[in-house]
Amino acid sequence: MILGVTATDTAHAPVFALDQAPLDRIAAAEGTPCYVYSAPVIRGRLAALQQAFASCAYPTALHYALKANSSLGVVRLVREAGADADANSIGEIEVALRAGFRPDQLVFTGVGKSPAELSRAVSLDLKAINAESPGELDRLDALARAQGRRVRVALRVNPDVDAMSHPHISTGLRSSKFGVPLDDAATVLRERRGSAGLEIIGLHVHVGSQITSLGPLCEAARKVAGLAVALRAEGFALSHLDLGGGLGIVYDTGEVPTYEAFARALVEVARPTGLTLIVEPGRTLVGPAGVLLARVIDVKPHAGGGRFVVLDAGMTELLRPALYGAFHRIVPVQSSTRPLVPCDVVGPVCESSDSFGRARDLPEPEVGDLMAIMDTGAYGAVMSNTYNRRPLPPEVLVQADGSWRLLRRRQTIDDMLALEEPA
Ligand code: LLP
Repeated sequence: MILGVTATDTAHAPVFALDQAPLDRIAAAEGTPCYVYSAPVIRGRLAALQQAFASCAYPTALHYALKANSSLGVVRLVREAGADADANSIGEIEVALRAGFRPDQLVFTGVGKSPAELSRAVSLDLKAINAESPGELDRLDALARAQGRRVRVALRVNPDVDAMSHPHISTGLRSSKFGVPLDDAATVLRERRGSAGLEIIGLHVHVGSQITSLGPLCEAARKVAGLAVALRAEGFALSHLDLGGGLGIVYDTGEVPTYEAFARALVEVARPTGLTLIVEPGRTLVGPAGVLLARVIDVKPHAGGGRFVVLDAGMTELLRPALYGAFHRIVPVQSSTRPLVPCDVVGPVCESSDSFGRARDLPEPEVGDLMAIMDTGAYGAVMSNTYNRRPLPPEVLVQADGSWRLLRRRQTIDDMLALEEPA
């Protein structure tokens, strides 16, 4: 099957079955670097996660975290496949609306929401706004009253839990900027119980991303669930518990919990509260469904005795290795009988951190070879930038039959300069 979910596919197997023909054609048509996403893999993973929660027979809503990949075509696909959405900025909200989501399918998170963002979010009557501080609750209250509304809010709680992930993407420790400390949360809510503009309907927690064991997720969930039970006993009319995203994927070796184990663990914590469970998965749905195609543009020996393989993709297209030391498999698209040689695979940007992997064994690369950088469907294109005046890369969506369409064309220098003073 082409670029599809294979018979051996499970929720966490490396599922982007590389098929040379469409990848070659896409690279020839769109050039490189270029992101390619597999529609059947995204659909398959979402269906597997939906099924895992359905089999727990507990009211649950899956809100796709747009921040992982907010390409309009991907967001549309996820909506059509039955997910709701989690947005982290007004930009993501607008994209979600244009992708066809209704406001009542959206939750809005974000550690710093500007006055304009808060005002627009209140006017949209979203499903819930996840508030990050007492001050934000008060600003929401004032805005809602000024607009003659009540705004549904959930309070984001900081449970002081270590996600055991990369420090840059761990958000649940007391020292991190996110949410209200668990011990303060009840007081913060009690003090605002009579606020005419606020309808306090839930609690929210998200302790980090690329979490590879259930421990931290469950520990955070239990703390917030305990708080929810206590608040209900005081008469707060809560309706949901939003346990955030965070489930990791396999980038290299190692394992991550199955969807079944993930769903069972969260539902077990939520069930005694009687509250609807919200989950905000991002990476797990789209990460393994994407590759970044790049061509070798130079090969040269280095003093250490190895060789540099310079790609036409760099930290501008895929920031994760430079930012987090993240590992991504690099796979030649053509099959080859050349001998395996150790390669330092780097990008063309003027920074030494612009490196995709050291001492990777690859069939002796030659200029012009096509490479796929794997598992880049999440936090890939969304984090691309134009450093060195490099244009944003195109994004392509492939269907199971190998047909494909361009979701975003490559940026041109004119696109870039359109925002600037005339030449
Ligand atoms: N909900 C909230 C409130 C979040 O902050 C995030 C991710 C998610 C859901 C989705 O988490 P996921 O299921 O994707 O783990 N750029 C980093 C990842 C940053 C994640 C930020 N928050 C990376 O490339 O690894």
